[in-house]
Amino acid sequence: MSALPTIRTATDAVAANAMVLSGLHKSYGPTVALQNVDLSIAAGEVHALLGENGAGKSTLVKILTGAITPDGGSMELYGQPYRPASILAARAGGVCTAFQELSLLPNLTVAQNLALPSQPTRRLLGLVDRRRAEERARALLAEFHLDAIDPRATVASLSLANRQRVEIARALSFRPRVLVLDEPSAVQASTDWLFERIARVTATGTAVLYVSHRLNEIRQLCRHGTVLRSGASMATVAIGEVDDAGIFELMVGRHQVARRQDAAATVVRTGTPRLRVSGLSAGKVEAASFSLHAGEILGVAGLDGQGQRDLFDALFGLQRKRAGTIEIDGQEKDVSSPTRAMRADVSIALVPEERKTEGIFPYLSVKDNIALASPASMGRGGVVLRERQLRHVKSVAGKVDLQDRYLDFDINDLSGGNQQKALLARVLVCGARTLLLFDPTRGVDVGTKESIYATIQEFASEGGSVLLYSSELSELIRLCDRCLVVYAGRIVADLPKAEIDETHLLAAATGHALHHRMAA
Ligand SMILES: Nc1ncnc2c1ncn2[C@@H]1O[C@H](COP(=O)(O)OP(=O)(O)OP(=O)(O)O)[C@@H](O)[C@H]1O
Ligand SMILES: [Mg+2]
Repeated sequence: MSALPTIRTATDAVAANAMVLSGLHKSYGPTVALQNVDLSIAAGEVHALLGENGAGKSTLVKILTGAITPDGGSMELYGQPYRPASILAARAGGVCTAFQELSLLPNLTVAQNLALPSQPTRRLLGLVDRRRAEERARALLAEFHLDAIDPRATVASLSLANRQRVEIARALSFRPRVLVLDEPSAVQASTDWLFERIARVTATGTAVLYVSHRLNEIRQLCRHGTVLRSGASMATVAIGEVDDAGIFELMVGRHQVARRQDAAATVVRTGTPRLRVSGLSAGKVEAASFSLHAGEILGVAGLDGQGQRDLFDALFGLQRKRAGTIEIDGQEKDVSSPTRAMRADVSIALVPEERKTEGIFPYLSVKDNIALASPASMGRGGVVLRERQLRHVKSVAGKVDLQDRYLDFDINDLSGGNQQKALLARVLVCGARTLLLFDPTRGVDVGTKESIYATIQEFASEGGSVLLYSSELSELIRLCDRCLVVYAGRIVADLPKAEIDETHLLAAATGHALHHRMAA
């Protein structure tokens, strides 16, 4: 968002290889997750790992860090054979990770998490050790410029972005020689903190493997990158020498589909709004008022933790409101639980921020997860999908680029981005008239984002209403008919289409609103 630090790497010097992977294989039952993967990372380099959802990136990360073992192939760490049997063994060798699905324990404090894995024995949770853990955590947080985070806070009480920062700080605290970051910026609009940490750690010769779907970040950080397609390493490229289309082609084996023509803003905001929120206070949100019409895509922009999450949760009955009213089609409604939000006369569905804890139903298949929210699917013994419903599920899954072959998977076995697609498919299947989409393309690959944008626009053009929060300004600029900006719990701007640009969004999001044009 603001100026980025210059990233210097040590690759100009002798590019000793920190890590060399040769011919790696990994299968999960019939699913081949990795096949014949070759990859070398030079010391002091930030090396990108690219590939569409399900390409095998996280699987590779898990192998490097000892969470799983490969079926075949070999690895070298600074010239020595490397085959970690556990995360601890990898860490002892100097390979540390911040995982895509964070590995912190939510009910423990930041200090306790930073002290793991010497935790959590009963003795260590005693008073003396707690104080020592807190002191150490405070020192670490200060070193990594995270002084604003309280070491005594539970991880669950932190925003997702801060949890992700603590996850990264924990990996850094082990002083890695190889640092693996799996989508470390997925929830951040601002990458300054992260890029600064990476610059520091590479300056000491540490190699970084950087997994991301954001090509702009990769271009700023990485000189080289390796592209995975269906588990195979397609090529290692000099990032500066390939354009985005070239990278996309390596990822999926075809040219990027031409950008679909975005629908012109033709929303006529007349009549009774589909949703009218008046004086809503809930969690961090204070006195929020706005309305959303049928056919409209209303954006919500804000820096991390300004109350946007509480706003979405309150509208879906996950967060209790202190004050205010919610009207649907001109009638005040009780939206005090998700069940009420989903009732036919309210008809609101949510894609939540956290898929692991509040999104997916683990141990159910992908198709059952998608069909679950539509009442017709519930039989006496649980989920019963009739042929017609299954066809519907398939066609909607297709709209968000979720391949048919994944529908029978246990949802736990899907890659992060594919789980996100399943959540989106679920709200589209359930037939709700209003969709609350909280960062719906988090972790989703570049090609799929285009399909998702088209699907959201189609939903709106057919009369649906959408409230869309995104951590990517470009997404709001592209899709929204109007955009609210939240700052410190308040809606500080309500921008018309013509003013949804970076300048206006950033000014408002940092509390320097150029306009205070509030809609009633
Ligand atoms: N425990 C598991 N059991 C079965 N299949 C699995 C398991 N874990 C991953 N897979 C499959 O392995 C393949 C690779 O998944 P992986 O998580 O490595 O993808 P990814 O490149 O990280 O994708 P994303 O960008 O969505 O995070 C996918 O087809 C996935 O469904
Ligand atoms: Mg992944």
